[in-house]
Amino acid sequence: MSSNIKVGFVQSNPEFGAVKTNRIHTQKLWGEHKADLLVLPELFNTGYQFKSPEEARKLSEPIPDGPTTRFLIDWSRNSGMTIVAGLAEREGEILYNSAVIVSPKGYIGKFRKAHIFDTETDFFQPGDLPFTVFDAGFAKIGIMICFDWRFPETARTLALQGADIIAHPANLVLPHCPQAMITRCLENRVYAVTADRVGTEQRIPGEALKFIGQSQGVDPDGTVLVRASEDREEAQVVEIDLEKARNKRINGHNDLFADRREDLYRTSGKG
Ligand code: ACM
Repeated sequence: MSSNIKVGFVQSNPEFGAVKTNRIHTQKLWGEHKADLLVLPELFNTGYQFKSPEEARKLSEPIPDGPTTRFLIDWSRNSGMTIVAGLAEREGEILYNSAVIVSPKGYIGKFRKAHIFDTETDFFQPGDLPFTVFDAGFAKIGIMICFDWRFPETARTLALQGADIIAHPANLVLPHCPQAMITRCLENRVYAVTADRVGTEQRIPGEALKFIGQSQGVDPDGTVLVRASEDREEAQVVEIDLEKARNKRINGHNDLFADRREDLYRTSGKG
């Protein structure tokens, strides 16, 4: 069986709070593209800069029983794609910055952003779900969300669990992530698809947030296969060979995982 598949992303500029409009607009941006896996940005349906916990609560949804997860499942059924997308999750009184993975067969699972960024801490709790690799049938898919990139343990944990691809919904404001993800892929021999957004939000006076775009797909050699613009909405697709991520050998003598020196990786104790 061929190990070649197509992965894609949508890079969008959502209108804050316009959940239904943003869902439909994202689908329009994707248009007639075809892929096995589609990755959408972090908080793709709401926008990013909440003004208050009440606003975040109003715009968040239960997962999997909320309307945005249902919308994504319908889209997945109608298109045959597996979809990973970021949205605000409400569980009882607690809010998380989450992502879902859905397939034509229905809901597969969710991940809650582990490392929440800056003022997100005013609205969201840090994720409490372990980093998990989801079996989509055609590939093993790990999820991390935006600022999780800054902690190399995230990609490492997913890769050690057997992820072929890291799906990475993002709303990037710092400039470093597109380059850093090259290293994450190289040091773990995995693919990564970062789906970012563009545009500026200034819902709080004096606190403008400019999102950097540059959504991308990177291969296990650290090659950037595709990178989007810094300022335009767009959709891109690229073909990848999963075998490349499953082979951790880097030459005749070195295997990236077998050569790990866990006996030396101590963070406490002497001698
Ligand atoms: C971020 O984690 N959305 C910067």
